[in-house]
Amino acid sequence: MPCILLTGATGYIASHTWLALLEAGWDVVGIDNFCNSSPRVLERLAELSGRVPSFVEGDVRDAQSLDRAFALGQQRWGGVQAVVHFAALKAVGESTEKPLEYFANNIGGLVATCQALQRHTAADQPLRMVFSSSATVYGKPEQLPIREDAPLSATNPYGATKLMGEQILAELQRCDARWLIASLRYFNPVGAHPSGRIGEDPRGVPNNLMPYVAQVAVGQRERLNVFGQDYDTPDGTGVRDYIHICDLADGHVAALRHLFEQGRSLTVNLGTGRGYSVLEVARAYEKASGREVPLHFAPRRPGDVDACYADPTLAAQALGWRARRDIDDMCADSWRWQSQNPRGFNG
Ligand code: NAD
Ligand code: UD1
Repeated sequence: MPCILLTGATGYIASHTWLALLEAGWDVVGIDNFCNSSPRVLERLAELSGRVPSFVEGDVRDAQSLDRAFALGQQRWGGVQAVVHFAALKAVGESTEKPLEYFANNIGGLVATCQALQRHTAADQPLRMVFSSSATVYGKPEQLPIREDAPLSATNPYGATKLMGEQILAELQRCDARWLIASLRYFNPVGAHPSGRIGEDPRGVPNNLMPYVAQVAVGQRERLNVFGQDYDTPDGTGVRDYIHICDLADGHVAALRHLFEQGRSLTVNLGTGRGYSVLEVARAYEKASGREVPLHFAPRRPGDVDACYADPTLAAQALGWRARRDIDDMCADSWRWQSQNPRGFNG
C-alpha cells in the first residue's frame, strides 16, 4: 500500500486520520511542529496501532524539515505517494488579531508543502494532495443544505486562507495536469476515538461548542454560554452540521482512494447533511454524560450564521462515503475522552 505524509500530524483531525489509514493498511509518515498539539499523541498512536509512528518534528514552512519527512517515507516505505495537508492555524478570532501569522502559516505552509511534494516526486508521476478546507468558505450561506457549487466568500482571515488555499491548488491543476487535488470542506468535526485515548485537546478556553460543553459537563467550567437565541432556526439557537471525527477520518481514506483509483481531482463537502441546534447538542451531551449542562443565554457571537449544514450527496456519489455515526455517538465518545482525560494529553 502507498505511503501517505500527514502534515499537522499530531493535531485533532490528523491523529484520527492516521489511525484510520493504518487500519485501512496504508503506511503513514507525519510531520508537526507541536504549535497546537502534544508529543504525547505519538505515544497514544503507538499504543492504539501497535506500531511506532514514523514522525519528524518540524515546521512545514521549512523546506529542510519537509525534506526529512519525505526522506523518512523513502527510507521506511519506498517513498511518499500522497500528502494530506492538515497543518494550519485555525482560530477565527485570533486570525482577525494576527492576520499575517495566519497568511504566513497557512498559505506559506501550503506552498512549501506543494513544493516539497513536487521536489520528491518523479517527473512522470502524479502529485496527489488532500487539502483540509472548511465549510467556512461558504461565508453566509444563501441556501441550505449547502452544495459544493454554492457561492464562496471569506468573512475573516482564517476563512480567507482556506479559500486561497483552494484557489492555489486549483491554479496548480490548471498549469500542470499531474496535480491531483482533493479539497475537503469539513463541516463541524466533534467527538473522539471510541477508545477514549485520543481526542480534541484545545489550549485555553475552547472556541468551539462541543469541547466547551464537555468541559462544563466534567466540571471545569460553570455553564455554557449560548451565543444568541434569536436566530432564524426552530429553537432560536445556531444550527450546525456536527460530524463524528472518525467519520471524517474515514472520509480522508475515501478521498485518497479516489485520487489513487480514479485519478481525478475533486472538491467535496464532508458533513452529515443534518443540523443540530446548540440546545439540542447540550441536551444530547447531558444524556450521554449523565451530567447537567447549565445554560446561560448570551449575545450573538460576531460573524456567526443562523444555520449551516451540508448537502452530502456528492461525497456519497463520488467517494462512496457517508457519515455513519449520530449525535449520541458523538457525545458519548467525546464524553469518554473528556472524562478519562480531564486535562487532555497532560492529564
Ligand atoms: P489542530 O490544531 O488540532 O491540528 C493542526 C496541527 O497542525 C497541529 O498539531 C499543529 O501543531 C500543526 N501545525 C500548525 N502549523 C504548523 C506548521 N507550520 N508546521 C507544522 N505543523 C503545524 O486542528 P484540527 O482541528 O485538527 O484541524 C486540521 C485542519 O483542518 C486545519 O487545516 C484546519 O484549518 C482544518 N479544519 C478544521 C476544522 C475544525 O473544526 N477542527 C474545521 C474545518 C477545517
Ligand atoms: C467555527 C468557526 C468556523 C470554523 C468552525 C470549525 C467562528 C465564527 N466560526 O464555526 O470558521 O470553520 O468553527 O472549527 O468562530 N456556541 C455557543 N457557545 C459556545 C460556543 C459555540 O453557543 O461557547 C454556538 C455558536 O454560536 C454556533 C454553534 O455553537 O451557533 C457552533 O459553534 P462552533 O463550534 O464555534 O462552530 P461554528 O460556529 O460552526
